[in-house]
Amino acid sequence: MTQIPHGKLETTTFYEQVGGEETFRRLVRRFYEGVAGDPVLRPMYPEEDLGPAEDRFALFLMQYWGGPRTYSENRGHPRLRMRHNPFRVDREAHDAWLRHMRDAVDSLDLSPHHEKQLWDYMVYAAASMINTPD
Ligand code: HEM
Repeated sequence: MTQIPHGKLETTTFYEQVGGEETFRRLVRRFYEGVAGDPVLRPMYPEEDLGPAEDRFALFLMQYWGGPRTYSENRGHPRLRMRHNPFRVDREAHDAWLRHMRDAVDSLDLSPHHEKQLWDYMVYAAASMINTPD
């Protein structure tokens, strides 16, 4: 039987395939540039400085896609729906959020395969965060 050299069966994570931390930092940076200028979303953010929120979101996404687990080391289990309860996430907020995310995803120039995976996840996750009916 042919021996498979040690390590050859390891698959890379989505996180690694798209370029690791740098790619997720660029994504979230661009997204928050949109949030900073958005009349619906900006007032929802409790802190004056959006930097810490940007960092939490980047760390969450890196962890979700197979990167380092720093998010949970700092924040515990994500429980994202619960963490969004204090905020009014209605259809309008959802649409604005996804619009800025679309722009941010486009700015990365990923392969169509990776771009679709990332975008499909964002669409699904954003819909699941709605907590206030119109
Ligand atoms: C659908 C519209 C959404 C709105 C309006 C919204 C709004 C917010 C706001 C106002 C915060 C608090 C900022 C902070 O202090 O961290 C927050 C936190 C956060 N959001 Fe969203 N969000 C939405 C969707 C999502 C989605 C789809 C994800 C995941 C893919 C997400 C991931 C996060 C994370 C990781 C945090 C920080 C949680 C923590 O550790 O405290 N959000 N969001």
